[in-house]
Amino acid sequence: IPVDPFDLVIFGATGDLARRKILPGLFHRFAVGQMPADARIIGAARSAMAEDAFREQMRATLTEFAPDLSTQTDVLDGFLAKISYVCVDATGEQGWTELGEKLRNGVTRAFYLSVSPALFGALAANLNAHGIATPDSRLVVEKPFGHDLASAKALNADLRHSFEEHQIYRIDHYLGKETVQNLMALRFANSLWEPLWNSTHVDHVQITVAERLGVEGRGEYYDRSGAMRDMVQNHLMQLLCLTAMEPPSRLHPNAVRDEKVKVIEALEPVPQADIIRGQYRDRDGSGSYRDHAGDAKSNTESFVALKVNIGNWRWAGTPFYLRTGKKLRARTSEIVVMFRDPPHMIFPKMEGRRGNALIIRLQPDEGITLRTTIKEPGPGGMRLAEVTLDMTFADALGEQAQAQDAYERLIMDVIRGDQTLFMRGDEVEAAWAWADPIISGWEEARLAPAPYDPGSSGPEDALMLLHRDGRRWREID
Ligand code: BG6
Repeated sequence: IPVDPFDLVIFGATGDLARRKILPGLFHRFAVGQMPADARIIGAARSAMAEDAFREQMRATLTEFAPDLSTQTDVLDGFLAKISYVCVDATGEQGWTELGEKLRNGVTRAFYLSVSPALFGALAANLNAHGIATPDSRLVVEKPFGHDLASAKALNADLRHSFEEHQIYRIDHYLGKETVQNLMALRFANSLWEPLWNSTHVDHVQITVAERLGVEGRGEYYDRSGAMRDMVQNHLMQLLCLTAMEPPSRLHPNAVRDEKVKVIEALEPVPQADIIRGQYRDRDGSGSYRDHAGDAKSNTESFVALKVNIGNWRWAGTPFYLRTGKKLRARTSEIVVMFRDPPHMIFPKMEGRRGNALIIRLQPDEGITLRTTIKEPGPGGMRLAEVTLDMTFADALGEQAQAQDAYERLIMDVIRGDQTLFMRGDEVEAAWAWADPIISGWEEARLAPAPYDPGSSGPEDALMLLHRDGRRWREID
């Protein structure tokens, strides 16, 4: 879909996210010829800097974060020619007039606030007060979107003071991932799954987002957040919504988001007995979470597993088990839909049988696997074996499957004015309303997280969460 000419202003243009994700994403779009000739990118930040100096800084950034593309000097020069810079004081007066003068009339205006949420309100208000925001300008904000329900409501109120909901794009980068969107295609473009997609046929669902890396340099931020706020309230919640939601009536931003909100509102409260928190701790004392957290006694969880029940007609009786953690055995994100056993088995019992499962692998090696039971070949009689029908998107689709980065896709959706893959204000608030009592429950009880070994699958207790229900997690590998 073509993209209209635009002026994109990136506040916090010298910050980490802009350097690692936003600018390399835009650069890639430009390099593949999918950026309108008339697009302009305006970096905005606090430091006074000449435009040339900023461009040189961006050259170094792209050389570091988009190394392959930036060897093509003419492409890099062409992209840098689109970039300019303004020094703007978020909370003061400086720079706003100059920014206003830089922007053109008649092109899409987008303002990306890649800054601390504490500045969202001031920036939005200044954009409005200086007449820079037009009625169809877009405002893009990043997580963390609040720390709890009260702070999320306050942020929403701050933004809505100056912008309308239809102008606000709250990024959850998981929604920009190819396979996450593919979940919708898989569910709603096939007639095969939907009849089975309910508690009559699905025994349970597992959603795992496992990371190999620890918190390392982000310890200070992370220690105030923990896995529940950093990953579950947003990314895993989005995966759960897309897996569990009713088919929307059409592919329209509000139709899709209405269905997601209904799922969140149907989530039942989670008792503390159904939550396992963990923290990685090296036995010899090196490389533990607490070494990075800046607090040697920190009780923040770097792992969480929980059992979630969705109280609606489709899912009552089918638990969703979620888990995410840092410093685990492998980097794996996947959704496992485990189907119920056949009601009557006529074959001899098969040792180690795991049953039918549809495994949607989000990263790495994006693809889909269907675990099926067949007869073991050979003369041994009617013995059963489990095999998988495997499809990695890269094998099936070749180059096309070369995923674009999530940010790249999301920024272009902003320019197109498509909010489908962005969180609506009420959606974020509903997710906090569900997460808040869970978090305050363990805070009030002062529960310490269970230690787990770096490189493991998390604490033993997380395995027990499923064992006690007669189930088991799929291995993280
Ligand atoms: C971020 C979290 O939102 O997502 C990080 O703050 C986490 O802690 C990251 O590492 C995971 O994203 P991805 O795309 O690498 O799976």
